[in-house]
Amino acid sequence: MSRRRAAEARAPGKLILFGEHAVVYGHPAVAAAVDRHTTVRLERIAGPTRLLSATVDDARLLPALATVLPPRGIGVHLHTTLPVGRGMGSSAALAVALVRALAALEGRRADVEECVRRGFDIERIFHGTPSGLDHTVSALGGAVRYVRGQPPAPIPVAVLPLVVLDTEIAGDTDALVAGVRARRPAVDADLAAIGALVDAMVPALARGDLATIGAGMNENQQRLRRIGVSSDAVDALVDLARRAGAAGAKLAGAGGGGVVIAVAPDPAPVLAAAARRGVPAFAVEIRSPRDPADDPATGTEGPAPPG
Ligand code: PMV
Repeated sequence: MSRRRAAEARAPGKLILFGEHAVVYGHPAVAAAVDRHTTVRLERIAGPTRLLSATVDDARLLPALATVLPPRGIGVHLHTTLPVGRGMGSSAALAVALVRALAALEGRRADVEECVRRGFDIERIFHGTPSGLDHTVSALGGAVRYVRGQPPAPIPVAVLPLVVLDTEIAGDTDALVAGVRARRPAVDADLAAIGALVDAMVPALARGDLATIGAGMNENQQRLRRIGVSSDAVDALVDLARRAGAAGAKLAGAGGGGVVIAVAPDPAPVLAAAARRGVPAFAVEIRSPRDPADDPATGTEGPAPPG
């Protein structure tokens, strides 16, 4: 066993760029890691394993930690810059960061396979039977095209400047998915059109063609409205972003609230418009493939305290 006494690692959250809900019925979706993260710091301590500090308050944290950490000897600090409960994958990022930090504490590096495998056990504590997309994207970084039942395929993205606007409302994913199911077959044509749109967007993302991507987001949002998963709060933020100069905007994730993403070659006016209305908003940049140096895991050498 290494003599590292502390280690820290982080992992990114994600956004669904195109294809949510349609993906449930076998159509493709595109999701991407964002440059906002959950960070986990582990320290060897005397006594039972416990949470030493956290920017999130969630009863599922301790059971999630217990999935991979020993019952004694580890103190945990958690910090996230992701909005929690908005479909941005903060728990998946926690899962991957925890696997990375534990490996770093043991003086080694966790590869993608280990992050995906062990991260899934942690994600299950938060989400029951998740698709596994969130933590896989977090572990891989970059962007992926995803079809249910198949491994996510990494795709290139030139550079995609986005603004994320937060409705501050947590959408209920299960209820929204059930609502779409209940509206079938009337919504099937929209779901199929969303799937076709996703594949039209893949080359536009590779080229960095922001005008085409923006128009695609507007069409995707219109169809998400038609299948009944948008909301007044979402529509208001989509409108706000477009009026402030965004090339396009849509909800990202299950809808009913959550976050709105806007393609904005110049994020400043969109951020300013959000600030004037008191809407939490921030810029993110998507690139794919990611630079592996973006997610460092670091360890501190030294004797562990007697446990
Ligand atoms: O809220 P999120 O980002 O986990 O997205 C849910 C995506 C859906 O397509 C609505 C559901 C699913 O399981 O794919």
